[in-house]
Amino acid sequence: MSGELSPIDKAKFVAAKRSVDFVEHGMRVGLGTGSTAAWMVRCLGEMVREDGLKIKGVPTSTRTAQLAREVGIEVISLDEAKWLDLTIDGADEFDGDLNLIKGGGGALLQEKIVATASDQMIVIADIGKQVDHLGAFPLPVEVIPFGWQTTQALVEETLISMDVLGRNSTLRMNGARPFVTDEGNYILDLHLNRIGEARQLAMVLNQMPGVVENGLFIDICDSVIVGYGDGRVEVR
Ligand code: 5RP
Repeated sequence: MSGELSPIDKAKFVAAKRSVDFVEHGMRVGLGTGSTAAWMVRCLGEMVREDGLKIKGVPTSTRTAQLAREVGIEVISLDEAKWLDLTIDGADEFDGDLNLIKGGGGALLQEKIVATASDQMIVIADIGKQVDHLGAFPLPVEVIPFGWQTTQALVEETLISMDVLGRNSTLRMNGARPFVTDEGNYILDLHLNRIGEARQLAMVLNQMPGVVENGLFIDICDSVIVGYGDGRVEVR
């Protein structure tokens, strides 16, 4: 399945491959979004088709839903599942406390809802995602399109007053148009460099009118499976 891969893709693949060992017959599984999660979905599909694994998958994006169906996984909605045994997803950054930045692929809202509705969340990531302090990766914040520039100004002013940010957030684009999430919203990427109080920042952001969700996943991830370019894997 993996063929000839670059070191980074190999690292993603081996982390994804190891993660499916945690999936058991009959489970309801949250299926993450992104290139690493896509490997995991393909691996699960192989187990469904070839080993008779029976699971129900709850995708975190239309992309993942399409891939899951293509590889033979039964797809149900979160409302049908109600609660999940396990979610496996990628991340843009993880720190030593297993706190995360997610949303590089724009699916943070469904990803956070699904992960929070799971008994367990496992993150799969290449070693390049490991950081001492969150924030080098721009923090995605999903906002309602109505008045998004006003929301952006409010976010920037609030963060400046917290000593967190200069006027440095950007609207995520898709070519010449704003990137639109599965929920029809926009994404502001906050260029913070280093986030000191991630928990506080996550709470402050979510209190602002116009902000739907932010990409900080605090105390949600239970375990990280880290892949290396030489094929080694660590479970943390
Ligand atoms: C999507 C995400 C992804 O999990 C994150 O961006 C990592 O992606 P990749 O596995 O392609 O590096 O949060 O919203």
